[in-house]
Parts: sequence; structure tokens; C-alpha cells
Amino acid sequence: MKILHLVGARPNFMKVSPVMTELAKVQNVSQKLVHSGQHYSDAMSKIFFDELKIPDPDINLDVGSGTHTYQTATTMLRLDQLFDQYTPDIVMLYGDVNATISGALVCSKRNIPICHVEAGLRSFDRTMPEETNRIVTDHLSDLLFTPSEDANINLQNENIDSDRIHFVGNIMIDTLVANLEKSETLWNTKTRQHFPKNYGLVTLHRPSNVDKEEILATLMEEIIKLSSTIPIIFPVHPRTKSAIDPLNLINHDENIKIIDPVGYLEFLALENHASFVITDSGGVQEETTFLKTPCFTVRANTERPITITSGSNTLVGNDSQNLSELIETSMSHEKTNPSVPPLWDGHTAKRIANIIKVF
Ligand code: UD1
Ligand code: UDP
Repeated sequence: MKILHLVGARPNFMKVSPVMTELAKVQNVSQKLVHSGQHYSDAMSKIFFDELKIPDPDINLDVGSGTHTYQTATTMLRLDQLFDQYTPDIVMLYGDVNATISGALVCSKRNIPICHVEAGLRSFDRTMPEETNRIVTDHLSDLLFTPSEDANINLQNENIDSDRIHFVGNIMIDTLVANLEKSETLWNTKTRQHFPKNYGLVTLHRPSNVDKEEILATLMEEIIKLSSTIPIIFPVHPRTKSAIDPLNLINHDENIKIIDPVGYLEFLALENHASFVITDSGGVQEETTFLKTPCFTVRANTERPITITSGSNTLVGNDSQNLSELIETSMSHEKTNPSVPPLWDGHTAKRIANIIKVF
């Protein structure tokens, strides 16, 4: 069985790693890894291949940055050309980035079976570019691997054939479980000394938060306010960096440590030891749920509601003007007994491999 994995952006790399490892144990499976090239900076791509021991991509489609249409169409064209020379039996797609929808469209046109890992998530917000990617990919997929019960319900509500839906759990948690000890060792031996004992961790990169100057400025003002009570660590995504720098909001004497994006092992330890996390990332909502670190999601909605109903996540909504107050109040009455959702147990890739084996 020839399996091709298509990845493109940072959150894909944590998802492909355990799946490739498990499929490598299956007899008569050969695997190829294709990188669309959407993320290309070392800190957004190479570091994850090194740390998570992902094999170097067999092919890099080198699409780079550009509009959604440019990235999607270029990935499609280059993937289609690749399939002229090499036709896989199955293509594995991950999450909701532009590579995901591109792969789904090309495979569907060529009748190549598609597996979608992290199927069924819905924010019900069509202004979010990822929502289109999720819906289209799910409707074109032959095997839909879901992380949570709410995802199964979403797919059923869209009349997707239940034979195609497999509730396998959260693949991000496989990578977390496999690397937590390593991350803690790195923290204790090297990284901890660079950070204060107590701190809040921030990541922001959603266009809805960072592409509009007034919204980003309000958010940053709240974060600066918070930094007078607790130091803030902020590894800045490249999209956010180009938006924040011209605002000139952060003085050197502020208690905010602005750093470049960090590797997975360092980030995991930062999440694990933070007093709280402020984020708009999908993956970070899930990881903090597993680690039981209080998380404040600065978005109007989330496609991962289980992190709120069961985990340590709180949705802040659009009203980021009250962010610092909300966090201070919430931290004084911590959410009681957050729990880890079913099948977020480190064995999702094994369940996926067992299903693919008999496909
Ligand atoms: C993409 C994904 C988003 C995901 C995020 C994870 C889509 C629709 N968006 O958004 O779902 O949550 O990745 O991080 O696929 N840049 C660099 N170096 C890089 C990559 C990008 O400097 O390696 C800069 C470029 O200026 C680029 C900007 O970051 O224009 C945004 O990158 P892009 O890949 O378009 O979108 P993300 O915001 O990263
Ligand atoms: N992450 C990382 N370094 C950072 C910020 C995030 O390794 O500086 C990891 C994080 O632990 C998670 C993943 O990146 O595994 C989430 O990716 P991102 O927030 O870019 O995308 P999203 O999940 O929102 O699509």
C-alpha cells in the first residue's frame, strides 16, 4: 500500500509524526511525505522535523507565502503534476490548513482515496479560512478520523455516511504524550533559567486578531496591563510579528518577553509551567486541556468546544477589552476539575493505522 502524507504548516507537523511512526510498523506499507512549503522558516518548519524525528520530506512543493487562492491553487497544480509520476493508494491529510483542502480537491478529481485526520471540527464561522478547508475536506474524504464526539455529531448533521467516520481520538495528544518527558528534561537542564518562575504565555496568529490594527492594539494593551501583575512570555508568529512591530507598543522596560517562535519541546514546557495561556491557536487549546493549564481563547468561537465543556479552556469572545480583568478574576476561582476528553490518550495513531491496514 503506497501512502502519501501531505503537510504544509506548523500544526500539521505534530499530527503527521505519530501517524508515520505507526504506519511504518505495518507490513507492505510504503510512505512518502510531501511538504507544500507553506511554512518554510526554520522556526516554523525545520525545527519540528528535527525534534519530532519526522523524515525529511520526499518532495517540497515550495509554494511559500501568498493569498489563500495562490497557495491552494499552486499546491493543487504541483501535487497534480507529482501524481502524473507517482500515484499513491491513499493520501493522508491533516487538520485545516491550505494544503489540506488542496490535497482533497486534487485527490477527489483523480479518484485517489483520502483520509482526513482531525475531521469534523466546526467553528460555524465561515469568515475563518480554516472552516472552508474543514468542510470541503471532510465531504471529499473516504476515511474521516475524528478527535471528539462533537466532531462525530457535526459530520452526522452534514449527512456524511457514518461508515466513513471513525472516532479515534486526538492525534496532537499522541505527540504530546510521546514528548512530554523529553520536554521536561530540556526545561530542567536548559530552558527554565531563561524564564521567570511564574508567567503567562501568549500566542496569537489568527487573521481576525492580528490583521486589523485596532483589534491587535486593544489586545496588546490588555496584555501589557496584565504584565504589571505577572511577566508575559510571547513567542511571536511571523504573521503577528509583521503586524505588531509597526505599532511600537512594547517598551523594553515592560514585563513582556517577546521572542521568536520556539520549537515544540520548548513550547510544550512553557505551556506546562505557565500560570495561564492566552491564545487563538487550535492546537494550544487542546494541549492546555491535556496539561490542565488554564487557557483563555481570544476568539468569538472555537471548533474545539470540548476544551471548554470538559477542559481548562475559557472562550473570551470578541470583548478583549476586558481580557486582563477576566483573567485576574478567573485565576482567583480556578475551574474545578478540568478533565481530559475520551481517547486523548496517546494511542490515536495506533487506532488510525489499524483502520488503514484493512481499508
Ligand atoms: C497558517 C494556517 C493556519 C494555521 C497557521 C499555523 C491556512 C489557511 N492557515 O496560517 O490555519 O493556524 O498557519 O501557524 O492554511 N511566514 C513566514 N515564515 C513562514 C511562514 C509564513 O515568515 O515559514 C509569514 C509570511 O509573511 C506569511 C505570513 O507569515 O505571509 C502568514 O503565513 P501563512 O502561511 O499565509 O498563514 P498563517 O497565518 O501562518
Ligand atoms: N507551537 C510551537 N512553538 C510556538 C508556538 C506553538 O511549537 O512558538 C506549537 C504548539 O505546541 C502546537 C502547535 O504549534 O503543537 C500549534 O500550531 P499553531 O498555533 O501554529 O496552529 P493552529 O493549531 O492554530 O492551527
